[in-house]
Amino acid sequence: KILILDFGSQVTQLIARRVREAHVYCEIHPNDVSDDFIRSFAPKGIILSGSHASTYEDHQLRAPQAVWDLGVPVLGICYGMQTMAVQLGGSVEWSDHREFGYAEVRAHGHTRLLKDIQDFATPEGYGMLKVWMSHGDKVASLPPGFKLMASTPSCPIAGMAHEDKGYYAVQFHPEVTHTVQGQAMLTRFVREIAGCSGDWIMGNYIEEAVAKIREQVGDEEVILGLSGGVDSSVAAALIHRAIGDQLTCVFVDHGLLRLNEGDMVMDMFSGRLHAKVIRVDASELFLGALAGVTDPEKKRKIIGGLFVDVFKAEADKLKAGTGGHKGATFLAQGTIYPDVVESGGTKTKKATTIKSHHNVGGLPEQLGLKLLEPLRELFKDEVRELGVALGLPADMVYRHPFPGPGLGVRILGEIKPEYVKLLQRADAIFIEELRAARDASGKSWYDLTSQAFTVFLPVKSVGVMGDGRTYDYVVALRAVQTSDFMTADWAELPYSLLKKVSGRIINEVRGINRVTYDVSSKPPATIEWE
Ligand code: XMP
Repeated sequence: KILILDFGSQVTQLIARRVREAHVYCEIHPNDVSDDFIRSFAPKGIILSGSHASTYEDHQLRAPQAVWDLGVPVLGICYGMQTMAVQLGGSVEWSDHREFGYAEVRAHGHTRLLKDIQDFATPEGYGMLKVWMSHGDKVASLPPGFKLMASTPSCPIAGMAHEDKGYYAVQFHPEVTHTVQGQAMLTRFVREIAGCSGDWIMGNYIEEAVAKIREQVGDEEVILGLSGGVDSSVAAALIHRAIGDQLTCVFVDHGLLRLNEGDMVMDMFSGRLHAKVIRVDASELFLGALAGVTDPEKKRKIIGGLFVDVFKAEADKLKAGTGGHKGATFLAQGTIYPDVVESGGTKTKKATTIKSHHNVGGLPEQLGLKLLEPLRELFKDEVRELGVALGLPADMVYRHPFPGPGLGVRILGEIKPEYVKLLQRADAIFIEELRAARDASGKSWYDLTSQAFTVFLPVKSVGVMGDGRTYDYVVALRAVQTSDFMTADWAELPYSLLKKVSGRIINEVRGINRVTYDVSSKPPATIEWE
């Protein structure tokens, strides 16, 4: 296993992710763990991360002495390279000026780390690497025994190596995808240089996570808010695997879910996994509070607020305990790593609120519960892999995202129970056909799009059906392709597919007589209509 010592970089989790992608087990710990801890961890290799800032105090951060005494390979990245240089007798030039972004690095010296790894070669035959740099300070002189491994015009010592000891260091960031060969370098380090076998798979994560959950929870009880989304579902399955009936899931059905979704969630968790799930059917409460409300942000606030109230009421009951139960002391959440970053785990400035997103932040404090977040270190695709390894069905785990306020923001303006029913049925047809239709390579159009759904437009238009005139509602189909949901293109769905969907909706959903396709990209439109 690999030990990653974190000096506070925003991308340390990415190092861990790349190591896992190389099928090697790793753990991240703070840079100032004790020598004893490192010895008992017994890593086969150690990675020193970058650091976020250029404040003077950060220059004092050092790796524990045991790192150098253990006799195992060490890879220093960015700040990790600088501390390696300082601790082993080289020197660093501290600077306020930051070099940031794309760079081309020339490889030197045929080191084991970079051998045969390159993006292109110069006419003189030097191997070149396309990398991502983010640093101010740089190594000014090599420590004794080290040789130059890489350089750029502005950073003459961009990489260094002491091959007998297995020490390597790079000023650039191999863990980010902009460094094209980054994965290859990290795989080389953990597998070939540190000698890890590379047979770790996401399924193994279950065992480690289960052990950690058991240790953290002991014999106490846990509440989890199950939404049917990927993250809370995987968290529920994982925690249930660890502590069984010590977990109670609370599933608040606000009546604005997709067709039959509530039943499917119950079938899966209560029926198949035998988890304790309390289903709170609050649709009347929600629809009642939403009656007459047309403003999208007001609708979001009402849904989000009520959701918290309903959930809290259930949680309070579970906290109090009944009969044989002592009462819950933990609240579990399916927080994943990108959520940690977004909610200010890092220094990024908060973007302006275009749409207030519904979440249950602040709940644990309000409820006086301890927090259990077993997915905090994982990225979305890893959470999905874990879900499959836990036995959740692939079509649940690979589902498109669904907003917290649900159909509440897909029915434009006022929400009426009648509209919800029409939209649920139209949307189910769209999704069913998307799953069934395939492109030339055999991939389904559901998998070829990032998010697809139907929007209910509360306007009536004239149609003709049989001999009669109709005067019914309109729906819009929306399907987008995006990698980050910040920008998105409308998907070029085949006409044959659109034709089939529109034909089925108009024939099967009485009350809708017109279907349109949304051909707006984001920006300037958003993905949802409200
Ligand atoms: P927009 O419409 O802002 O959507 O382009 C970007 C992504 O965010 C989702 N979304 C929401 N998710 N609560 C959520 O949990 C919300 O209020 C909300 N509004 C939008 C949207 O589905 C898309 O994936």
